Amino acid sequence: MSARTVQVRTAAPYELRLGRGIVHESMRAAREYSAAAVLSDDHVWKLHGDKLQAGDARVVIVPQGERSKSFEQLERVLDALAEVRLDRRSCLVAFGGGVVGDLGGLASALFMRGIDVLQCPTTLLAQVDSSVGGKTAVNLRSGKNLAGAFHQPAGVWIDVDLLTTLDDQDYASGLGEVVKSAVLAGEADFARLEQHAEALLRRDPDLLLDVVEACVRQKAAVVESDEREAGPRRALNLGHTLGHAIERAAGYGRIPHGVAVAVGMLHACVRSAHEGVLQDRDLPARIRRLCARLGLPTGLDELRTRSGAALSEAELADAMQFDKKGALWILPVRLGEVRAVASKG
Ligand SMILES: NC(=O)c1ccc[n+]([C@@H]2O[C@H](COP(=O)([O-])OP(=O)(O)OC[C@H]3O[C@@H](n4cnc5c(N)ncnc54)[C@H](O)[C@@H]3O)[C@@H](O)[C@H]2O)c1
Repeated sequence: MSARTVQVRTAAPYELRLGRGIVHESMRAAREYSAAAVLSDDHVWKLHGDKLQAGDARVVIVPQGERSKSFEQLERVLDALAEVRLDRRSCLVAFGGGVVGDLGGLASALFMRGIDVLQCPTTLLAQVDSSVGGKTAVNLRSGKNLAGAFHQPAGVWIDVDLLTTLDDQDYASGLGEVVKSAVLAGEADFARLEQHAEALLRRDPDLLLDVVEACVRQKAAVVESDEREAGPRRALNLGHTLGHAIERAAGYGRIPHGVAVAVGMLHACVRSAHEGVLQDRDLPARIRRLCARLGLPTGLDELRTRSGAALSEAELADAMQFDKKGALWILPVRLGEVRAVASKG
């Protein structure tokens, strides 16, 4: 089966390729450069490294998990790129989840003032969200993603067959972003998730291809209209104001990003109703029902019980003060429409 393609018409345009068993195609593209290196994490590399067919490219491995989005690992990666004498016409292939994508993206933005990065996302979250759009970052002690750059990839290869090995928690995290994407897209996308929730949970590959394609098409369109998040792109932060506070208050890495976003989105619905912004009164219950069917928590209380994290109101309010996104709430109006509202604190 040949790959599906989506064009991203940013200042430097690029193509997303989606399919089954296609990840090795990225190395074909990488060989067009003067030299290539690969970045992955130890877990992904053990499970899927052979599928990339990296040949004699230098492979840099970081430990799996959020802790690798650090200056320490960034320096290690940059030193490795220098050791193998990559030059300005070389590229880095980022083969992993959002952590590897964000770290590899930032390393590529910095190395010799910028080389190309080819993104090969291996988690559902990275496939539907983080590999597209060019946001890259590492974390600081004072907060997540606080040191970063915009650096669009030169290409993205999305191979849904890699998702079969993802553990349920990480798959659920991707589903949180899938639901968010459908809420932003509108009735047709949301209804498809409602209709096929069980098949999606089973990771049916054909359905996954359709769903991932819908998410990246939507993200590509938003990114094209606002590459550096000056306006419309902020809509993608639906669920992130509280979501980031949840991640911070629980301790980074404890609650997966997309799970926190799903709970944040449900909270945004409640807030939207409270502030008179919500027009579709059935929407909160519909999102809650879908989340439940997809195995996502349906609110803060359930998240507290499941995770064992206290997530007190005071902790969350405190955590929100630190967030870059804290100044704005993205509130749903109806499926396919949100409004950005300044935070009253
Ligand atoms: N740049 C952006 O626009 C953007 C958007 C959303 C999230 N993010 C960032 O993405 C990160 C989260 O990404 P993530 O959820 O992919 O986390 P992750 O990269 O840590 O991956 C989660 C876990 O899944 C494992 N894994 C990856 N692929 C696998 C596979 N195919 N089979 C089995 N295991 C696999 C990893 O080893 C890791 O243990 C956060 O740091 C977040 O800030 C960035």
